[in-house]
Amino acid sequence: MPARILDGRVMSETLRAEISQRVSELKKRGITPGLAVILAGNDPASEIYVRNKGNGCLETGMYSETVRLPESISQEELEAEIDRLNQDSRIHGILVQLPLPKHLDAASALARIRPEKDVDGFHLLNAGSLMTGGEGVIPCTPKGALYMIRQTGVDLAGKDAVVIGRSNIVGKPMAMLLLRENCTVTVCHSRTKDLAEYTRRADILVAAVGRAGFVTADMVKPGAIVIDVGINRVDGKVKGDVDFDSVREVASWITPVPGGVGKMTITMLLQNTLEAAERAEKKA
Ligand code: GUN
Repeated sequence: MPARILDGRVMSETLRAEISQRVSELKKRGITPGLAVILAGNDPASEIYVRNKGNGCLETGMYSETVRLPESISQEELEAEIDRLNQDSRIHGILVQLPLPKHLDAASALARIRPEKDVDGFHLLNAGSLMTGGEGVIPCTPKGALYMIRQTGVDLAGKDAVVIGRSNIVGKPMAMLLLRENCTVTVCHSRTKDLAEYTRRADILVAAVGRAGFVTADMVKPGAIVIDVGINRVDGKVKGDVDFDSVREVASWITPVPGGVGKMTITMLLQNTLEAAERAEKKA
């Protein structure tokens, strides 16, 4: 029997309806959750992501602001914008779209965001909190991926989870989240020897590689849950890191691309922004 589909569009619709509901309750109390997205330069993929983030805000009744900065912006000017948004009470979430132009220091810019407004969960305080079991903001893509894994209803404790990819945005936080779920976690990457030896043991396999169709059926354990984080453009089409048609015959659950994790990432960003506004209300 082919794998069942974990449908990010359907899950997002349900979650966004809940988010809209909570936004309207906050609005009744005079607070409109607000997200500011900083986009430096003209990277075409970033343009699309930023537009989708703005649309997500509109759809759920939030305020959104896109701060467009020229490619040539200096570090000081970028950080001055972040400082301004840190002070702006209409803004509950600040996101600096990555990658930044090469001459800029992303780590320094991310450190400048007030941790409670860091809706990406990339600030060191939030990253450290995830590592040590605290209550910080969780990065959107792994948070969405974990939500999808949980929707299978499978008991995760003691399961073998393999994450392919070790980025700060996906691989590392994903590994931490699965560890929190009591999985036995292995992180593989471009220098891993005999990758398939690891992936074939995975009850839960998360692919965040950045290469279209990289994970093939022979690399997957029968009955595995396969989560495809890849967004690769091939001949004008978006393809995942997983060879969907073949892996679908082996796995028990699988996420499609498009319509899988990508859709959930923005939904989680909206959720993180809403939660930041709810926390700000409690603190006020
Ligand atoms: N670029 C690619 N993914 C992301 C993300 O999750 N957040 C930000 N800020 N930039 C990205």
